Amino acid sequence: MGRIDSLIAEMTLAEKLGQLTMTAADYAVTGPLITPLSEDAIRSGTIGNLLNLYGVEATRRIQKIAVEESRLHIPLLLGFDAIHGQRTVFPIPLAEAGLFDPVAWEATARVAAEECAGDGLHMTFAPMLDVSRDPRWGRIAEGPGEDPFVGSAIARAKIRGFQSSSLADVGAVAACAKHYVAYGAVTAGREYASTDMSEGMLREVYLPPFRAAVEAGVASIMPAFTDLNGVPLTASVFLLQEVLRGELGFEGVIVSDYHAVAELLNHGVAGDLAEAAALALKAGVDIDMMSDAYRLGLPVALERNLVTMDDIDAAVRRVLSLKERLDLFQDPYRRGRADTGTTAQSRALARDVGARSLVLLKNDRSTLPLAARKIALIGPLADAGSEMRGPWGGAGRPEDCVGVLQGLTEAGLDVRHAPGVPIEENDVSGLAAALALCADADAIILCLGEALLMSGEAASRAHLGLPGRQQDLADAVFEKAAGKPVIVVLFSGRPLAVTEVVSRADAVLAAWFPGCEAGHAIADVLTGKVSPSGRTPVSWPRAVGQIPIFFGERPSGRPFNPADHFTSHYSDVENTPLFPFGHGLTYGDFKLSNLRIEPGDPLTVKVDVANHGAHAAEETVFLFLNQKKPGVTRPLLELKGFGKIALGPADQGTVTFTLPAPTGRAELFVGPNADFRSMLSLSL
Ligand code: GLC
Repeated sequence: MGRIDSLIAEMTLAEKLGQLTMTAADYAVTGPLITPLSEDAIRSGTIGNLLNLYGVEATRRIQKIAVEESRLHIPLLLGFDAIHGQRTVFPIPLAEAGLFDPVAWEATARVAAEECAGDGLHMTFAPMLDVSRDPRWGRIAEGPGEDPFVGSAIARAKIRGFQSSSLADVGAVAACAKHYVAYGAVTAGREYASTDMSEGMLREVYLPPFRAAVEAGVASIMPAFTDLNGVPLTASVFLLQEVLRGELGFEGVIVSDYHAVAELLNHGVAGDLAEAAALALKAGVDIDMMSDAYRLGLPVALERNLVTMDDIDAAVRRVLSLKERLDLFQDPYRRGRADTGTTAQSRALARDVGARSLVLLKNDRSTLPLAARKIALIGPLADAGSEMRGPWGGAGRPEDCVGVLQGLTEAGLDVRHAPGVPIEENDVSGLAAALALCADADAIILCLGEALLMSGEAASRAHLGLPGRQQDLADAVFEKAAGKPVIVVLFSGRPLAVTEVVSRADAVLAAWFPGCEAGHAIADVLTGKVSPSGRTPVSWPRAVGQIPIFFGERPSGRPFNPADHFTSHYSDVENTPLFPFGHGLTYGDFKLSNLRIEPGDPLTVKVDVANHGAHAAEETVFLFLNQKKPGVTRPLLELKGFGKIALGPADQGTVTFTLPAPTGRAELFVGPNADFRSMLSLSL
């Protein structure tokens, strides 16, 4: 009999339920670890997993209690939210998606995994794979943007990066694909609200990244807090058992979201903790994170015959199998080392990825790269290193983060700085001092946007303009600029509805939250040391009223026609986004030509790219398909590929895609973004 079978045979019910329980510890790198009760619970084997505890001393001490003082010596599984870095904070996932570069996506996950392992962790609750087309939802910041093809590519890259070639590797951690599924479609963009959609939409838009995660061997999956079509994901036999484990063949661990099992009572689908625990276990949830429903509810559920001991044993087996794959039984202390801070290498990667995540939205009259040296740096996010981490900044320390003021100063610019107004508070007392800087400057850089906590979890917004009195600051600066170039750098966890600011600025750089090397990355792009190459992975609305807005819409029987009033349109705003998916300018001047196909299955699609500009730059090119289907309307555009090419001035090259040969009538589109006006097309 193997180790796991013999353990299960020996375990008491309390010990089994302990393996199905994950409790939050303090964010304890030093100091008191977790309450004495929890340590006793670890000694008694009634807590088998922890989250939010990291650092080699803290994790070694607590693991020692489990391994050396509990009856069966089963090691703890330790998890944490290293969503975009652990000690080295990389750009938020929405920003990093805009690199359209799986090599970079994997590289940052690899560094995060090494740093997590260094902190004694075994699991990260990432990647977050929730496609979203609603920037009112704060968690759009954590995900891959609006498109499932991108989400699937990110899933594969991140799981390779986190899990390495084997979970037994000392630098590997178990990934956790979340939040299964369709969390990004919450009603009205309001956090934790219900989701409703057709099974077709679910399978075409929200499920693919999780399919890709399972195919990539993800070790665990976390169901969403939400209900889909009336069934909470935490209790969904259809989506967890039939689809995830049945159709997709997922054999790993399903860990609930924080307190989600007990929240089945709030959903109204369970009358008490025993029913909630039974629903979740029967649906396939193995670990109950922080609701104690399994520990307290399953003994009662057993008595009521709501669950069987076999159900419990099956879940325990999956949890112990994960611990075995992580080599925790062999050497529970193999992960963990003292020096887990950022390094020159990790910061160099953060700076490179940070620069490449920046999206140059507008650059009239080639305002950028900066010609000026005397800069008025104004705005509440100009000297805000700590905010650069963005939501879910892991173990990143504020003091490790470089803000814009530091970055521009170190780049040798002559910078005068004033915040002008705070990010959110209604206070304009600093406005005059900020405006006074404009007179003596050759260029003005306005750093505006959101605080890091204005996106991420529990951070939905109904208005997507600039917070606080920032619009007043911007208006006053535009008035005061007197013809000097005004560059706006926008910090946010989502697209903002800032049409008026964009129209008045000479240049606009969407910085999202670029991570610990933000200031250096932004200085590299503004000074021209690096050409911007980031592309937005999500459409930018002109107005909140356009939401949901995305490129993959179906045609409608009355597609917009300016000559015909009775066609799909608003009376007060254009249908098109302010910036389409894929938009992003560079310092090059790229032209596409000669789109062609080489027959076969898969097809080979080629397009020539030339840089007619004076700067070297990197272009990203997208391949879309409009596939007709008899009797079924299809999206106008479906993303089927993306490719990149770096070209010097007057250089040219070719980007090649492969595409499974479409059946029936189809049209190919290739372009720098999802705007038909910029594309080349071919009928198949
Ligand atoms: C949070 C989030 C989830 C995270 C978990 C543990 O509420 O929904 O993404 O992994 O709790 O922190």
